[in-house]
Amino acid sequence: MRSSLLSLSGRTPSSRLLPEVTERATASALPTRLRPADLLRLTDEGAEDVLAGRYDHLLPEGGLWPTEKRWAARLIADDEVDLWLISWVGEKSTELHDHAGSLGALTVLSGALSEFRWNGSELRRRVLSAGDQASFPLGWVHDVVRAPDSEAGISGPLDPTLSVHAYSPPLTAMSYYEVTGHGTLRRTRSVLTDQPEGELE
Ligand SMILES: [Fe+2]
Repeated sequence: MRSSLLSLSGRTPSSRLLPEVTERATASALPTRLRPADLLRLTDEGAEDVLAGRYDHLLPEGGLWPTEKRWAARLIADDEVDLWLISWVGEKSTELHDHAGSLGALTVLSGALSEFRWNGSELRRRVLSAGDQASFPLGWVHDVVRAPDSEAGISGPLDPTLSVHAYSPPLTAMSYYEVTGHGTLRRTRSVLTDQPEGELE
C-alpha cells in the first residue's frame, strides 16, 4: 500500500493541475458564472438593503404584510440573477419542487422557515431562523413553509417571516414532486414560471 501511495505521489507534478482543471470543467458545465457563495452574498446584501429601507418603495403599503397569502417583490432583475423578497404565512407551503436549471440561495431576515429537503431516501427537516442562510445547488428538491407556531418560542416572533432569495440564471421553470409509497420521488408536473418558490398562495 505504501509503495502504491509513493508511486501516486510521484505523479504529483501533473496531478497538481487536476483541481484547477476539474474546477474549470465543472464551471463551464454550470448554467451561470455565479457560485453558491456569490448567491449567498447577494441575498445577504439584499437583506441588509431591505433592513436599511432601500426597498421601502416596493413593500406593502403601510407596512401591512399579507396574512393570507405568500407575497413577493423582485428587488433585482438582470441577465444573471433575480433577487426576491418573500413574506411567508403559516401553513402555506411551496410543495416539493426544484428550481429547474437555476441555482438558488436565501437569507432569512425575520421569523423562521421550515425546509423539508429530499435527501435521496427521505425528507429531512431543518429550521432556518433570522440570519440563517442556505444555498440550493442544481437538483435540490425541497418544500418550504413558514415555521409552525410551536417554533415561535425558539425563533422569536414568526410574523412577519421574511427571506431574500437569489436565483441564477433567473428562474424560468420548476418541477413539482411527490414522495411515493415506495420511498422514491416522483415528478408530478413541470411549469414555466419566474415566480420565486412557486406560485404565490
Ligand atoms: Fe425553492
